[in-house]
Amino acid sequence: MQQYALITGASKGIGYALAAELAKRGIHVLLIARNEQLLQQVAERLTNEYKVSADYLAIDLTENDAARKIVDWTVQKQYSINILINNAGYGLSGALENYPLTEHKNMMQLNMTVPLELSYLLLPQLKQQNAAYIMNVASGAAYQAVPGLNVYAASKAFILSFSRGLRYELKHSHVSVTAVCPGATETDFPNRAKVTSAKAQKMAAKFNMQPQEVAAIAINGMFARKAEVVTGFVNKLAVFFAWLLPKSLLEKSAAGIYDL
Ligand SMILES: NC(=O)c1ccc[n+]([C@@H]2O[C@H](COP(=O)([O-])OP(=O)(O)OC[C@H]3O[C@@H](n4cnc5c(N)ncnc54)[C@H](OP(=O)(O)O)[C@@H]3O)[C@@H](O)[C@H]2O)c1
Repeated sequence: MQQYALITGASKGIGYALAAELAKRGIHVLLIARNEQLLQQVAERLTNEYKVSADYLAIDLTENDAARKIVDWTVQKQYSINILINNAGYGLSGALENYPLTEHKNMMQLNMTVPLELSYLLLPQLKQQNAAYIMNVASGAAYQAVPGLNVYAASKAFILSFSRGLRYELKHSHVSVTAVCPGATETDFPNRAKVTSAKAQKMAAKFNMQPQEVAAIAINGMFARKAEVVTGFVNKLAVFFAWLLPKSLLEKSAAGIYDL
C-alpha cells in the first residue's frame, strides 16, 4: 500500500519546504492548510516536479474537531500514513493584553492542541507501520521564556516537552518522535506575529535561515531518529547560552528585542 507523509501548514514557509524535501526523496504527501488555491498549486508543483502523489485538504485547524476531520478524510480516501509532521503554527508579538484572549487561545489550539490531537488520533495507524515518524516543529523559543512573544514561547516549550515524553513512551515501538527547533527563518512568520520592533527585524535579517535549509536539516534529523534537532550553528549556540546564562538575563535580553 502506498504510504504518505501528512504535513500541516504545508502551503508556504517551512511547511512547504518540508513537503518539497520529502517529495524530492520520492515520498507522497498530504498537505494541510487553510488557503485552498495555494494548496492546489503546491500539490500540482510537487506532483509535476517530483512525480509523487500529492493531495490536500483546506481546513482551519483552529476549528473544533479539525484533527478528527483530517483523520476522517484520510480514512475516506484510504491513505496510509507513516509520517506525521505537525508544523502549522504562529506567534503573537507584544504584551499579553495587546490581544483578545480568544486570539491567544486560537494560537494555543494551533500550536499545542492540534499536534497533540493528530498524534493521538494517528498513533494506532503509525504503530502498525514498519517504520513511522512524528515530527513536531517547535522553536528556539522553546528553551526560555520570551517576554514579548510569551504565549508563543510557552506553547513551543510544551511541544518540545511533549515530543520528548512521547518519544520515550514509544521507545519500544517503530514510531520515532523528533522535535525540530528552528531559529529565525525567512517566512511569513514575523508578519503574522505582527513583529514591529526594529531590533527584532534587524536580528532576523542578520541570522535568518532559508526554509529549504531548515527543511533539509529537519528531515535528515527525523530519518536519523533524533530526539531534538536545532537548525544551524547560531541557533545551537543560542540554545547553549539559554542553558548557561541566568534566566533573568535571558528574559531581559529577549524583552529588549521585542521593545518591552
Ligand atoms: N519562521 C520562523 O522564524 C520560525 C522560527 C521557529 C519556529 N517556527 C515555526 O515553524 C512553523 C512554520 O512557520 P512558518 O515560519 O513557516 O510560518 P508561515 O510562513 O506563516 O506558514 C505557516 C503555515 O501554517 C498554515 N496555517 C496557519 N494558520 C493555520 C490554521 N489556522 N489552520 C491551518 N493552517 C494554518 C499556513 O497556511 P494558511 O495561512 O493557508 O492556513 C502556512 O502554511 C511554525 O510552527 C512556527 O512556529 C518558525
